[in-house]
Amino acid sequence: MSNATSQEHTIRPEGGPEKSADGLFSPLKIKSITLKNRIAISPMCQYHSVDGFAEDWHLVHLGSRAVGGAGLVVMEASGVEARGRISPDDLGIYKDEHIEKLKQITTFISSFGAVAGIQIAHAGRKASTRNPWKGGNRHEKEYLTSENGGWEIVGPSPLPFSESSTVPKELTIEEIHAIQDSFAAAAKRAYAAGFKWLEVHAAHGYLLHSFYSPLSNKRTDKYGGSLENRMRNTLETVEKVRAAWPEELPLTVRISASDWAEGGWTPEDSVILARALKERGVDLIDCSSGFIRAGDRYPLAPGWQVPLARKVRSEAGIATGAVGLLTEAEQAHAVIQNGDADLVFIARESIRDPYWPYHAARALGSTVVEDARKVLPKNYSYAI
Ligand SMILES: Cc1cc2nc3c(=O)[nH]c(=O)nc-3n(C[C@H](O)[C@H](O)[C@H](O)COP(=O)(O)O)c2cc1C
Repeated sequence: MSNATSQEHTIRPEGGPEKSADGLFSPLKIKSITLKNRIAISPMCQYHSVDGFAEDWHLVHLGSRAVGGAGLVVMEASGVEARGRISPDDLGIYKDEHIEKLKQITTFISSFGAVAGIQIAHAGRKASTRNPWKGGNRHEKEYLTSENGGWEIVGPSPLPFSESSTVPKELTIEEIHAIQDSFAAAAKRAYAAGFKWLEVHAAHGYLLHSFYSPLSNKRTDKYGGSLENRMRNTLETVEKVRAAWPEELPLTVRISASDWAEGGWTPEDSVILARALKERGVDLIDCSSGFIRAGDRYPLAPGWQVPLARKVRSEAGIATGAVGLLTEAEQAHAVIQNGDADLVFIARESIRDPYWPYHAARALGSTVVEDARKVLPKNYSYAI
């Protein structure tokens, strides 16, 4: 298996991150794919599906952000099986019938020069909750039962996410393997739907994170206990996905690079995990953090998770994505120029402004982007 990530600027496995002279609007080449700039639209659940199907809403939501100039547009967490959805309204990629509408969306995104990516996910013990705009909030959601549209939830151990959450059923080894196979099947569907960039969701307290975090995994078999055992499910899943996903296309993993909690997963653990993922052909680690337990508090500040991306990049020698409260053009440009990360993921700011890449180009000025209008499609750029 190859992990030959080739980029415009070199990743240095041993030395510290090196400076990139070009910054936010330089291309990034990974495997056979070249992103036209370093701006990725971060995956964001839309809670706008019935039985996992994409709708026109997704076409407009993602299509607008492709038109806005992002190099990469990543479709939201998409359940690899129906019970792996966070809510009944989540997107899914658990049956072949999902492919057709997804294909329309990837065709549109690609036609405007952006790369279409998708995040494949299993929500584990955080599944079967009410869509947050129908009740609860984004981080502490209301659990649904079989009486009001919910289903049985699963996890590494029978430990709930919060005191009021449903207790998950502990997965058997056979069931763990079956979910790994669902990830691989989802990867094949993603390829058939025209996606060129795949992200495995192993963050935010969902199934894979809940296996590697010692706070949620109390198993005594080969999937629990030591760091090696807790990482096993993520590594085996990625091996199966890598085998199902074309070798020449980028495979990435989103991790929670810290639990920010006593006795939890640490940034040092993330470096070990990132090295193991790199050996298995992963091309980039998208460094998010947190959300393994309800009630945990985080040191939120502009760019607060950037040091995690920097650490993983320099110590594991793998490309990284930085995410979280990246809102300003200069800030995002500096993340790339300083060698903190290879890509910036923009979430909420891209909701506020789908044209964030165009506005960033204008803000950075003509020494960075000669003609900001060219960030937009010709339909618009000629007219302004
Ligand atoms: C509405 C919404 C939905 C989200 N859905 C996902 C998701 O599907 N997968 C994921 O990994 N993160 C998800 N996130 C987290 C974002 O991708 C991002 O990591 C987080 O919002 C921090 O970035 P920001 O400060 O730019 O918003 C979501 C965030 C928002 C606001």
